[in-house]
Amino acid sequence: MYLTKEEEKILNGEYGWGLAKAMQVIVSVGDSLNSEKLIGITHAHISGVSYGNIGEPGKKLIKQFSDEGIKFSVKTTVNPIGYDTLDYDAIPFTKIDRNYIKGQEEILRSLQKMGADLTLSCTPYYLPMVNEIKIGSSVAWGESNAVVYGNSVLGIKTNREGGPISLMAAIVGKIYYYGLHIEENRIPEIKYKVNKPENYEINEVRASIIGEIISKIHNNDKPPYLYEKLRNETTVKEFSASIGAAGNLAMVVIKGITPIKFNEKEINETITIDFNDIKKREDELKPNDKPDLIYFGCPHTSKYEIEKIAKYLKKVDNLKTQIVITSSRNEMSKIDKDALNILKSKNVKLIGDTCLIVSPFGYHGLNVVTNSYKAYFYLSKKGINVSLISLDDLEEVLRLWKNLRVEL
Ligand code: F3S
Repeated sequence: MYLTKEEEKILNGEYGWGLAKAMQVIVSVGDSLNSEKLIGITHAHISGVSYGNIGEPGKKLIKQFSDEGIKFSVKTTVNPIGYDTLDYDAIPFTKIDRNYIKGQEEILRSLQKMGADLTLSCTPYYLPMVNEIKIGSSVAWGESNAVVYGNSVLGIKTNREGGPISLMAAIVGKIYYYGLHIEENRIPEIKYKVNKPENYEINEVRASIIGEIISKIHNNDKPPYLYEKLRNETTVKEFSASIGAAGNLAMVVIKGITPIKFNEKEINETITIDFNDIKKREDELKPNDKPDLIYFGCPHTSKYEIEKIAKYLKKVDNLKTQIVITSSRNEMSKIDKDALNILKSKNVKLIGDTCLIVSPFGYHGLNVVTNSYKAYFYLSKKGINVSLISLDDLEEVLRLWKNLRVEL
């Protein structure tokens, strides 16, 4: 790989152990991918910062960097951890070990000392700082839903970086020129259409099933082109998360959304997904019974989604099911007061900094209903029975479960 004189100096340790170590990792991975050079990044989002995930070895490595006085070279945000920092026991059915908290706090202290903004959220794309990232600029993001959203919706460039690479890239402010950082690798060659009746709307559950199908069948180096209208922001977000969870894709060009220029006429392969296949999967995943818990917030909910949930719940007289919402502190700080009061009166758990998947939550055999395919994908692996409904169907299913007043 070609390195500038400055990059070579960093690699050779002229600026100290920490920078050299980070540069060595970036250069050796870049070399193994046959990357020709390094490019600058404007932002990093570090995943894999949960103590439950990286344990003592990860904690020690980050602390070593921090003790060395290493600072992040670019603005850096951080993914969720395993608990709510303001209420350790906020997650139902979950007890957080105090040693776990001690380990996590050390990681957070180190990251903060290095200059990270402790956003503890997987939706960096909802943070105000995202407006500072220009379309087309390269970043190093290490959270799969954010990677897909960043490439496909914001038009910024990132590969799917693992936690360690996003950390090292944040330190050196550079990443190898490879994959989706290269413009031509972002131009789709295969179009996906859904064969469906005219009034068939693609909500977030259906979009996620489409994401699952595309992830399984797409066999081309370039991103797929989804030639469908996605209903709203929730749909786009959950679609991005399903793409990230169900396979290895890092980008989908979405009709009318992805800011990219290409000649559609040059696409000569179209794959049609039949809506009956979506319906079949939707039926498999839909709830058969009342859940023990309803979960929204994978990826973290927006203020808009939280207020929408509150609006639906306002009509509920006697809510018998525990509702859990996970979100970022940033979005939570913007919620309308009335909505907050409704959530409080319904005993809804609004939890920050974490999610049911990253936290040690894992009550075997529990019935959870959610609108998130990604939550379904990972919680099912923990032995939890997960089924899917659209957020917009919340009111209707609550009525079916007789949680609503009769006059509704
Ligand atoms: Fe975010 Fe947790 Fe889902 S980190 S994308 S809410 S698995």
